[in-house]
Amino acid sequence: MVSRVIPVDPFDLVIFGGTGDLAKRKILPGLYRRFLGGQMPADSRIIGGARADLTDEAYRAMVAAAIDEFVPPDRKNPEVITDFLARISYVSIDATVEGGWEKLKTLVRPGVVRAFYFSVAPALFGDLAEKLHQHGIADTTCRIVVEKPFGRDLASAKALNATLAKYFTEDQIYRIDHYLGKETVQNLMAVRFANILFEPLWKAEYVDHVQITVAETVGVNGRGAYYDTSGAMRDMIQNHMMQLLCLIAMEPPYHFDPAAVRDEKLKVIRALDAVKPSDIVRGQYLAGGGEGGYVEHSENPNSKTESYLALKVSVSNWRWKGTPFYLRTGKRLRARTSEIAITFKEPPHSIFDETSGWKENVLVIRLQPNEGMDLLVMIKEPGPGGMRLTQVPLDMSFADALGEDAEDVPDAYERLIMDVIRGNQTLFMRGDEVEAAWAWTDPIIQGWEARGHKPQGYDPGSSGPEDALMLMHRDGRRWREIKG
Ligand code: BG6
Repeated sequence: MVSRVIPVDPFDLVIFGGTGDLAKRKILPGLYRRFLGGQMPADSRIIGGARADLTDEAYRAMVAAAIDEFVPPDRKNPEVITDFLARISYVSIDATVEGGWEKLKTLVRPGVVRAFYFSVAPALFGDLAEKLHQHGIADTTCRIVVEKPFGRDLASAKALNATLAKYFTEDQIYRIDHYLGKETVQNLMAVRFANILFEPLWKAEYVDHVQITVAETVGVNGRGAYYDTSGAMRDMIQNHMMQLLCLIAMEPPYHFDPAAVRDEKLKVIRALDAVKPSDIVRGQYLAGGGEGGYVEHSENPNSKTESYLALKVSVSNWRWKGTPFYLRTGKRLRARTSEIAITFKEPPHSIFDETSGWKENVLVIRLQPNEGMDLLVMIKEPGPGGMRLTQVPLDMSFADALGEDAEDVPDAYERLIMDVIRGNQTLFMRGDEVEAAWAWTDPIIQGWEARGHKPQGYDPGSSGPEDALMLMHRDGRRWREIKG
């Protein structure tokens, strides 16, 4: 298969927070890969901005080190790296003071796509937006990219939206949820809406339940201070997992365009029922495996923040009434795996007897690792001995199916940054979506705070707290095994 890379228009991208972790790990290596792949035109510029007093050369050395660390060896081409670095400059700038803004103005060119990546704490969004306007650097054609956390509750998200709206229109604001940039997440839409096979069955009449799992082996090491004010609900459920849920549950949009897709996602979020406390399990990892527990990493010995969360969620609309969605996510679990499993119901009448070994059909969409899909179907167990059924996967690993092209699949950030330059907001969260998601999570979080709820401890390397098993057992269902 030949990969079809279509270059974007030449651009100037300013990265505020240009020396930060995200810039080094994801944004800059991702841009390099798009340059290598021929998608970033040579006539584009990247301008790193941060408070540190650095020369262009020192900044380029930092970028070179980031590429060295975060780009796989087979993608490192010294000549291309040199070419890429030549497109990078640096400005020492502070959102709250004057220095640097006039220099930035001279670096950003009129007549090319201009994007400003706010890879900084949300508290600085307003100052950055204001300065860009005051200095005439931003106009109605430029774009801004903002990172999560987009607020920590409905009130703060509304305040942030209002601040940005003073300076930019909604179609200039790109709220990143990197899960929407993952290849398989977008494949969800392709699978649902480019095939006739699944859609007729995609409803409560045929779907018994849906499981969404995002399990991580890492703890909160090094991010304890942020994470302790966040927890799994704010860090993963309100954004990433909510987006996955939306893509599975939404109605077919009339077209694959930003307004249509985001309208349908918003309807799902608004249709979510309030979650009962008995449908929630919160956990916190204990010490083990030679590492400290959550409380040691959070530096708060009395922390009640959850590093694991399992929820049973209902979408109250005609399509999904009666089909529960079980969501779980956690840190320091047995394996790193993210998947969506759609379990279908029994056929209305079985012609086989009870000993035949029947099991449900399951469509498993693997986000990571080994991206792909399995459709578990029943067949006859080969050989003599009567009609015995066995479950086999119709297995499609994208790496096998697409060969070399699968290796060239852009990382989520690369793809999303190119979408910013193309001006395509389909895979970005709209302000009303973010607010609706907080409106749903706020009462749950407030309930824990009011009750002083303490999460259950769970062992590192396990699949989470015992009670999470019960969440499904009591409904006569089982979680899928967490395995890498
Ligand atoms: C981030 C969260 O948004 O997503 C992290 O803040 C989490 O806590 C990460 O580890 C997971 O992303 P991925 O792409 O590794 O699944």
